[in-house]
Order: sequence, then structure tokens, then C-alpha cells
Amino acid sequence: MTTIEFSKELKWGAATASYQIEGGAREDGRSPSIWDTFSHTKGNVKNGDHGDTACNSYHLYKEDVQHLKELGVDLYRFSISWSRVMPEGTGELNPKGVDYYRNLIEELIAHDIEPMITLYHWDLPQILQDRGGWESRETIEAFKEYAEAMFKEFGDKVKSWITINEPWCASFLSNYLGIHAPGKQDLQAAVDVSHHLLVAHGKAVQAFRKVVPDGQIGYAPNMGWLEPYSPASEDRDASRRGMLWQKEWFMDPVFKGSYPEELLQIFEKENAFLKLESGDLEVISQPIDFMGLNYYSGSLGRHKEGSGLFEVEEVPLDNRRTDIGWPIYADGFFKVLVNLRETYGEIPIYITENGACYNHEVQEGSVNDQERIDYLKQHITSLHRAIKAGVPIKGYILWSLLDNFEWAEGYDKRFGIIHVNFETLERTRKESYHWYKNTIKNKGFPLT
Ligand code: FCB
Repeated sequence: MTTIEFSKELKWGAATASYQIEGGAREDGRSPSIWDTFSHTKGNVKNGDHGDTACNSYHLYKEDVQHLKELGVDLYRFSISWSRVMPEGTGELNPKGVDYYRNLIEELIAHDIEPMITLYHWDLPQILQDRGGWESRETIEAFKEYAEAMFKEFGDKVKSWITINEPWCASFLSNYLGIHAPGKQDLQAAVDVSHHLLVAHGKAVQAFRKVVPDGQIGYAPNMGWLEPYSPASEDRDASRRGMLWQKEWFMDPVFKGSYPEELLQIFEKENAFLKLESGDLEVISQPIDFMGLNYYSGSLGRHKEGSGLFEVEEVPLDNRRTDIGWPIYADGFFKVLVNLRETYGEIPIYITENGACYNHEVQEGSVNDQERIDYLKQHITSLHRAIKAGVPIKGYILWSLLDNFEWAEGYDKRFGIIHVNFETLERTRKESYHWYKNTIKNKGFPLT
């Protein structure tokens, strides 16, 4: 029998994010974030869904930690709701908000689960958005203040931190494509936001070194993979261009201290310009301890004139898609990992998210989500191949522990290995939960 086996050193985890699971939106002094505003504005989210209650993890976190414990994970990646801990966006901390995370952290540690905190998983306090949000450089300073306060509160117990989740989504998807909060369609705004997010990342890293010198910090960009449709140079060029705004735009500044010239030119043709201030690139390129990677999907990239900014058409490898419509491309996961090492060197990598959307429901007490297991098997096999190819991978963190509020898709799209009934909030472990538990226990799985 063919088996896939990992070393004992690889860490296994599961991930969630504050707005997607917590609920308690108006409790204990939390102020609204841009996602409260966006989701409560008609037409932005499917079925008018919002995160007011979500999975109610604000109250049920102990139950969630119990599921993590029995799953056997080494670490749990969760995010802090900025507007819960610092309702004014800057200044005073909200003691009840801080307590929620302190209790969660203590509960995790008591169960031998390492907490990994994401500082920014998209829920900017609305009060800061009202002052220009990430388009304004003031938000950089606000983020630094918030980050520093969190390092001081939790840095004695929490040693693994992520500054920004998916800066591409927080900038281009949210401000150019208009799909996520704040829902703008303005390329210049998106370019400004992307740069400010990176400067904010760098400033947080600087603060971290002073407050938590024994900790590790990184960020979590998302990336798909575009494999050239053919070896023809026009397909190779188109694929490379298609990757630029997810990969080089968010990685070159951090690891090379510069933005990619080719993309600056593409943006300039659209009248969007990078507004660089002196010292920005030094701040952004602070050494970090690891790179996160969120990987879900990929395609073949084929040259097509007139198709958007990059003249690339994304052709799925075959007709297999998850229930959110994203093409499945497990080999792309291997390819992107190998490519990242070739481009940026030996920086340790955590897979900070990987997982699949399948909308199975509970039937007679169980959820048979074999498709999710298949997806995980394929992708974790790619991960294994990447490790064998010498990519320094430190951990694999599955998205997601729970079905949750899937942003613009609302509650219809389920990524959890635990089913959540959004009426009763009852949790039911899926077959994939049991499969992942065995995989963690055995450090691998049979490839049948
Ligand atoms: C990523 C997000 C995460 C989740 C997954 C499915 O883009 O970081 O919050 O929505 O996709």
C-alpha cells in the first residue's frame, strides 16, 4: 500500500477568523467593523447574511477548543477582532474584549494547543474606515498601536503571530473588484491600500521585535498557481503576468525590498500609481521569521488579448471544482511552493490555509464529505512532494475548523471539518474531521 508519511517536526493545525465565527457583534463593548457595515448593506452578501451571531464562538469557544483537543492539532490559528479589543480603533483597550482572547488563549494552552494569532483578518474598525481606512496612512499608525498593544497583552503566552491575512483580498478584491468590504471599485485605492497594508505589516514586525523577542512573526498572503497552458512564450508570459499581483506585488517588497517593475507599468497604464514615501521599503522588508501561504486553487494560464489587466485567461485543468466553483489543482500547490523557494530562498513556510468548500448536510447524525477528504489527500500529497523537493515547510493549517460566515458568500458555502447548524449552532464532526484526526495521529495517511 502506498503511504504518505511526514516527519514528527511538521506541525498540524486548524484555522478560523474572528468575524467568520465569533458572533457577539454588539456585545461587551465591541464596535462595528467594515464587515458589519458591508454585510448589513443590502446586496453585498448572499441571502443578506451577516456575522452578528455566526458560530457564536464568542460564547462557545470552550466547546470549540474541545473539538480541537480531540482532533489532536498542535496549533490553532485564530484572529483578533480589532474593534472588539480597541473599539475606538486607537487608544483605550476594551477589557472585556481583551478578556475574551485571554480566556481563549488560556483554554488552548491548558489543552496543549499552541495559539497562533492573526492580527488582521479583514475586520477593520468602521471608525477607522470613516477616516479613510487603509487608503489613509493614519491607519498604518493605528495598526501599529493595536498590534503593539496585543503583543504586550498576549506576547508572554503567544509566540506565533501573523500580521496581515491575504493582503491581496484586503486590497484588490475589496477595493478594485469590489467584492469584499469596503466594496470599492477603484484601482488607485486598491494600490494605496495594498502598499499601506505592507507598511503596516513592517511596522508591526518592528514593534514585535521589541516586545516579543523570543517569538516568531510572519504574514499570510494568498496565491493560486497559473501553469502556462502551453510552452509558447505568449502563454508563459501571460501566466507570469497573472501571478504578479498575488505573488510578486506582495512578496518582492517584503523579501527583496522593491516592487515589481512590470506590474508598476501595468498599473500606470491604468492611471494608478504607487505612492512611496522615503523609508517605506526598509520598513516593509524587515526580516520575518516565516512566510504563510493560503492556497486553494489554480488553473492553466493562456494568453488572451483584451482579458483584463493581465491578458490572461484562466483555463481549468479539468472540470473538477469545489462547491464554491474554484477549480481543483493540487499539483499547483506543489508548483507554487517550489517556485516560492526558488524565488525567495530558504524562508520557512507555514501553510496558513488550505481546504475545500463542500456543502454536505448532516444525515442521520453524520456528514459524509468524502470529496473534502479527497481534496485534502491530494493537497497534502503535494505538500509532501514539496517537502521532499526541499521546501522548508514548518506546518500545515487546515481551513477551517468550523463551517462559518464565508464573506460575500454568506453561510451557504461550507469549508468546515465540523458542520455547524446555523439555526441551533449545533456542531457535528464530519468524516473529514475523523480523517484529519487520523492523519495527525499517524503523521500521514494511506493513499487509497
Ligand atoms: C480565504 C480567507 C478565509 C476563508 C477562505 C475560504 O481567502 O482567508 O477567511 O474565507 O478563503
